[in-house]
Amino acid sequence: MSKKYLLGIDLGTSGTKTVLFAQDGSVLASATVEYPMSQPQNGWAEQAPEDWWNAAVTTLAKVLRDSGVAASDIAALGISGQMHGLVMLDENGEVLRPSIIWCDQRTGVECEEITQIIGAERLIQITANPALTGFTAGKIRWVQKHQPDLYSRCRHILLPKDYLRYKLTGDYATEVSDASGMQLLDVPNRCWSDEMLTKLGIDKSYLGKVYESTEVTGHISKQASQLTGLAESTLVVGGAGDNAAAAVGTGVVADGRAFTTIGTSGVVFAHTDKLAIDPKGRVHTFCCAVPGAWHVMGVTQAAGLSLKWFRDTFCQAEIETAASMGVDPYDLLNTEAALSPIGANRLFYLPYLMGERTPHLDPDCRGVFFGLSAMHQKRDLLRAVMEGVSYSLKDCLNVLSEMGVTPQQMLATGGGGRSELWRQMLADVFGCKVSTTQSKEGPALGVAILAGVGAGLYPSVREACDSMIHIGRTQEPIKENEPLYAARYAQYVQLYPALKDAYKRLAQ
Ligand code: XUL
Repeated sequence: MSKKYLLGIDLGTSGTKTVLFAQDGSVLASATVEYPMSQPQNGWAEQAPEDWWNAAVTTLAKVLRDSGVAASDIAALGISGQMHGLVMLDENGEVLRPSIIWCDQRTGVECEEITQIIGAERLIQITANPALTGFTAGKIRWVQKHQPDLYSRCRHILLPKDYLRYKLTGDYATEVSDASGMQLLDVPNRCWSDEMLTKLGIDKSYLGKVYESTEVTGHISKQASQLTGLAESTLVVGGAGDNAAAAVGTGVVADGRAFTTIGTSGVVFAHTDKLAIDPKGRVHTFCCAVPGAWHVMGVTQAAGLSLKWFRDTFCQAEIETAASMGVDPYDLLNTEAALSPIGANRLFYLPYLMGERTPHLDPDCRGVFFGLSAMHQKRDLLRAVMEGVSYSLKDCLNVLSEMGVTPQQMLATGGGGRSELWRQMLADVFGCKVSTTQSKEGPALGVAILAGVGAGLYPSVREACDSMIHIGRTQEPIKENEPLYAARYAQYVQLYPALKDAYKRLAQ
């Protein structure tokens, strides 16, 4: 009997999730292991690659055990993960330092230097994006400057999910969608840019071989097979950065389709068969997981992270009640937020906990509650957080429309996308229908689909999505809510410019 199961790993910021799928996209088993993010200084963010690997081993072994599926029946594995993080290995493949991850904002100076060295226009021509603090090139430069001894021992530079690939297969490899976020890839031509590498003093041999997302990059090694229970020689495909993977997992693989994620970060993502670049660099243009195509996306740095921060800092009582009721604490927070009216009784929240990308490109801005009054209750603060994130995502959508990318269909995904209240807010704020997919597994399903294409179970990503992705619930904008949100959004967009200079002073 032919091999028929597919595995997807999603190495997220809060945890790693591994899901085993049947060929129709149904879930046989799923397991998640969480790990911490350390913030050694304000605006810094690091994680231990060893934590990711341990989480991958534990979750792989668990889904195999729980599903009862024979490892030899698994056709292929795909890996997705948080983008941009810097993993440095020495000549023996040992981790040299904690990974500096995507939301770390320490590289403002290095980004200015990169812009000077390459030239602002040339940088956008090659990498399709301006130098951004989240991206990997600035992080490499930071280590070159601040930890030269450590850099001298570096022999391999990998992205987070590609570190898992290395541990699983022994191969140093990556694929175009995630590599696009390193600022070292020639994004129009889908290969490493010699010009970027030479001018930034990065040895090309440190980088992995670049594949398309559906290509087979290697096989499970003997050692990884012993640790995880996977069959030796199971195929591993390129996979994709978490957003490109979520696109496949929600069927956003053709022009006119778009999705919004509310995960730790928030993203508004639109597929484009033709290369489209924002000359102001406010949204990212990356290669997507459909071979030969791209996507544009705007990013809110702290979307789900804003609510998680609020939950962990102020909602101990809700966490305990939820545990005693056996429900998710976020369900209780949603119910509480829904008790506050639109506008949260004249309270605004700016979600800039980790600086902001779209549309401000400002590593120094920080979160704000604006308009706090003694009458406000926790429910108002919660609602303000959800509304502030929604307005920030509206900022992303506006830039895409300015570029002429106008999606006809908006899917919602990520942890926050599971909240009916948040999806309704998005529909009302965006002024368009917002749908979910029947499967909740965005990135993990996406890379399992890519694995299925790589293993030859489907002829193409689009055909695989047509047979595996099913649209779930659709929420229409509520006519009377739209103008209420529009009036508040107009006030929201005035707050950042009013604070811009104060943020600079705060950062000093
Ligand atoms: C995208 C980005 C985040 C991370 C973490 O550019 O930085 O979406 O991938 O999820």
